[in-house]
Amino acid sequence: MALMERQKVVLAKADAPSNIAIVKYWGKQAIQEPVNPSISFTLSRARTETKVSYTAVRKELKIDFLFEGKRKKAFIPKLEKLIQALLPRMPFLQSGELFIESSNTFPHSSGIASSASAMAALVKGLYSIHQQLSQDDDSKMDAQKISAMARLGSGSACRSTLPGWVLWGETAEYASSSNLYGCSINELVHPLFLQLQDSILLIRSGAKSVSSSAGHALMKDHPYRQGRIQQANKHTAELLRALKMGDFTAFAGICEAEALSLHGLMMSSSPPYTLMAPESLAAIETIRSFRLQHNIPLTFTLDAGPNIHLIYPNEVKQEVLPFIEDCLKPLCENKTVIYDELSIQ
Ligand code: DP6
Repeated sequence: MALMERQKVVLAKADAPSNIAIVKYWGKQAIQEPVNPSISFTLSRARTETKVSYTAVRKELKIDFLFEGKRKKAFIPKLEKLIQALLPRMPFLQSGELFIESSNTFPHSSGIASSASAMAALVKGLYSIHQQLSQDDDSKMDAQKISAMARLGSGSACRSTLPGWVLWGETAEYASSSNLYGCSINELVHPLFLQLQDSILLIRSGAKSVSSSAGHALMKDHPYRQGRIQQANKHTAELLRALKMGDFTAFAGICEAEALSLHGLMMSSSPPYTLMAPESLAAIETIRSFRLQHNIPLTFTLDAGPNIHLIYPNEVKQEVLPFIEDCLKPLCENKTVIYDELSIQ
């Protein structure tokens, strides 16, 4: 009986969406805490699905990780760091065999493979195993707890455990904000911003030359560090106001200033680097002149990469889709655009 108990295989399945930040998290302190508040919205279609199986058979923990059917060694150090951080909350991670299989719903090596969705899904899966082993009630999955644990894997992952608009990081603008977990702010957002489209222009696929984690580290001694922290706090206050009022013009101004500041910070890091491609700049110019000509509310942002997220309200979708087809698709690698939208569920 004791032997059977020890060899029991515990299974869990979990999934989590990607998110796109409008005010960017850039720079960290302590254990994966941000140096400034950030605000994002969670996507619908770009998701990671993860299966975890755990067997309590060994003295030391053995981890096997497959991404889209293949062993992915590059992920192991991040995974081990997460497991170490989760140990006090999930003692089962002390020993045993952990087999993790993960896949994305968006195209393989599209350049938007996000550590946010991957880490959020993994933490949900591990937490489910923990609950089964400790015979906890599954329905008690606490949103704050899950978000805080996902943060330990990847900062932006703490925003992927919640639907819609999420604020992460302390700010005087929102009383219950925290550096430790994301807070849902949907209740204060105007309906215009609850139906946003995000069409992701895949300018370049493939691995980035400098990872986000390395980029965060370069913010430590960055000459514009203090200015950046002030700017992000100001943008947080302004974005919260724009989201409440349904002010798309103000929203677009903040969105673009954040995206271009992020890339400006990369270009002024020591050593400096660029992640934008010539086609990223061409797309930005094309988007701005289309907006000027047609007076249609649309804007863009970029993450730490060359791809452009084209963001617009659902109500102008019919006018924007032909523009994407005719003017933006030709700038994309293999003419690839991923049509996604804000998820409120
Ligand atoms: C530019 O969350 O990927 O996308 O905490 O080191 O895993 P780690 O970094 P990560 O950084 C995301 C940076 C960003 C902006 C954002 O999502 O807020």
